[in-house]
Amino acid sequence: MAAEPVNLNEFQELARLALPKMYYDFYAGGAEDEHTLKENVEAFHRITFRPRILVDVSRIDLSTTILDYKISAPIIIAPTAFHKLANPEGEVATARAAASCNTIMVLSFTSSSTIEEVAASSNAVRFYQLYVFKKRDITATLVQRAERNGFKALVLTADTPRLGRREADIKNKMITPPLKNLEGLLSTKVSSDTGSNFEADANETMDASLSWKDLEWLRSITNLPILIKGILTREDAIKAVEVGVAGIIVSNHGARQLDYSPATISALEEVVHAVKGRVPILMDGGVRRGTDVFKALALGAQAVLIGRPVVYGLAAKGENGVRRVIEMLKDEFELTMALTGCPSVKHITRNHVRTEQERI
Ligand code: FNR
Repeated sequence: MAAEPVNLNEFQELARLALPKMYYDFYAGGAEDEHTLKENVEAFHRITFRPRILVDVSRIDLSTTILDYKISAPIIIAPTAFHKLANPEGEVATARAAASCNTIMVLSFTSSSTIEEVAASSNAVRFYQLYVFKKRDITATLVQRAERNGFKALVLTADTPRLGRREADIKNKMITPPLKNLEGLLSTKVSSDTGSNFEADANETMDASLSWKDLEWLRSITNLPILIKGILTREDAIKAVEVGVAGIIVSNHGARQLDYSPATISALEEVVHAVKGRVPILMDGGVRRGTDVFKALALGAQAVLIGRPVVYGLAAKGENGVRRVIEMLKDEFELTMALTGCPSVKHITRNHVRTEQERI
């Protein structure tokens, strides 16, 4: 393979070469048989284009607006855990890359840099991803810290009452680092300096009783808009709109939770039809090509998030690697827009793609 990667999949290979096997497996792996992990990518392959010709595409505008924030392209950084396992600069490097690409970074609850360090490192628009712990005052403290440090929205990840079964991590006896933001807040192993097995600890600390009524509580402790991440059905999409969320992220957690969840690109339209434009819908899972970004937008998403490719960029080439991953995906997306006859994201419609059910 050439030293300089030309697409996101080649960054994955560089990351594999750069990382200890245990960490690479932690990033790359999915739940159980990894059926959904493969499907997240392969379901994109089954969607084809209905490209339009003889449209003036001499100028292409990739920019879009998400919750009032104008970004350079509908490509956002998903929350992923422990960036310091990929690079010593961790989430600080990722945030700098987000700022220089003019996009949004969603900081993971399980970050290895603190809320304050990430906030101080760049002027990127940042959202904060939240898990709710049994000790609600800990969650409230983190929400307040995010708000105080200029984070613009909360992303409540709602597909994780317990952690999925990731067998590579079990085999590797993967030990995750301490949760930086929780230092001094928890008395359990999770915040210890000696590291912890987040898998075991999370099941002790994460509140599996969390339910729709708790959204009211969350809204009572913050003025930030709340997005829900992990929606895969029309039923839950309608509930989310009813409780007043600011946005929905169609996600199966990068196939790390429930194996045989649908590929997210296959679940997207059901959610789009249920929501009827009332709140913005984002999606993540398996986005590896600019054509994937286009397909997600054609099926009704306003933007996609990318998880693993960011971590692979970080592992392969640090901050610059993250930048390259985002710019590469933007370049591919721009080319797709030109070749399908779409000079701006507003021009991308349902008629530009054909799904498997519609095959002729
Ligand atoms: C994740 N994801 C995730 N999601 C979340 O809400 N909080 C988290 O801390 C994490 N951590 C995490 C770690 C790793 C290593 C991965 C791969 C994923 C899920 C993430 O936000 C996103 O949904 C998926 O990564 C999207 O799929 P792709 O782009 O990785 O295929």
